[in-house]
Amino acid sequence: MRILAIETSCDETAAAVIDEGRFIRSNVVASQMDLHRRYGGVFPELASRAHVEAIAPVIESAMAEAGASWESLDAVAVTKGPGLPGSLVVGVNAAKGICLARDLPLVGVNHLEGHIYAHWLESEDNAIRQALHNGDPFPLLALIVSGGHTELVLMHDHGRYQLLGHTVDDAAGEAFDKVARLLGLGYPGGPAIQRAAEAGDPQRFKFSRPRIALTMKTARADSDAYLFSFSGAKTHALRLVQEHGGEDGRSLTRKLVSDIAASFQEAVTDWLVEKTVRAAEAFNVKLVLVGGGVSANKQLREKMRAQFGAQVSFPPLFLCTDNAAMIGAAGSYAFLRGVRDELTMDVIPDLKLGEASVPERG
Ligand code: KG4
Ligand code: ZN
Repeated sequence: MRILAIETSCDETAAAVIDEGRFIRSNVVASQMDLHRRYGGVFPELASRAHVEAIAPVIESAMAEAGASWESLDAVAVTKGPGLPGSLVVGVNAAKGICLARDLPLVGVNHLEGHIYAHWLESEDNAIRQALHNGDPFPLLALIVSGGHTELVLMHDHGRYQLLGHTVDDAAGEAFDKVARLLGLGYPGGPAIQRAAEAGDPQRFKFSRPRIALTMKTARADSDAYLFSFSGAKTHALRLVQEHGGEDGRSLTRKLVSDIAASFQEAVTDWLVEKTVRAAEAFNVKLVLVGGGVSANKQLREKMRAQFGAQVSFPPLFLCTDNAAMIGAAGSYAFLRGVRDELTMDVIPDLKLGEASVPERG
């Protein structure tokens, strides 16, 4: 089974060729990072235009690098949501065009499902892959933390997801990006905060734990036990900057910037780990998979390892951030389950993963 996968949900134009749902034959990513750096975040109009320019060469490179012929493909998988509408549509249209021209089946994939299936791909870290491929890894718990998402998902089987919790405001990565911006650290914020935090004192400022109620308009879960909130931490960081006489981080001392970065990172990673531990225990999961751009965070990795030991998996860095290989892995398993989409398939910018219903425990 060979799948061509395409991903354009945000600011990376990506294509990959994946064999048997796990072997990466090629994985091409054209990043728009430099384009968006000027704006301190993703600028949707520009993203869409950049996707249009990059999509054909990126797909051609992925096919060429894999040495794949069009005849060797079994299907085309593409991210149909969630994401920016103007970005998603570029990948989906490209996929539809190929399916029509080459008479291939189309498989629409949820971007978040892709972040989960990144763990199924062959990579240098193969301990958990054994369990994923050869054993019965379910139920497993997935924490997806990226610039657009913070979701805690219970996975009962291939394709069977249950949303346990999510953020009621900013995504974890978004919070890193916003705090980095107000500290004058640049974009993307996650790596910048991590670097600044290395020299900082994580205990200097105490970020108070957010109070989250199910009655909040954006809450979709059945319990508030697994809901996240990061906008309070962002406001707290802003207040610290202002209290120390700054409009932004550029007018603060390096020491102060480092201490705020370290304290913020300490709090956010604590909250992520606490809720993941709570869910892992409540649902007695066999494995914990952490994915999305924020899973690149060193401190998050260390804290998760300290809690879960060999039971927790992180993809290698190149599979943590957006890529098409993960869409190919998810698409392959969907293809095997018989998932097929019509060429009339539309993008779904607010596509959800699983239902927000918590079953009886036991
Ligand atoms: O998964 P991703 O590449 O794109 C989205 O789907 O959003 O995630 C990008 C996010 C950005 O917010 C970035 O700041 C964050 O991941 N990120 C990090 C780190 N590396 C990237 N956050 C914290 N620590 C990092 N080392
Ligand atoms: Zn992503």
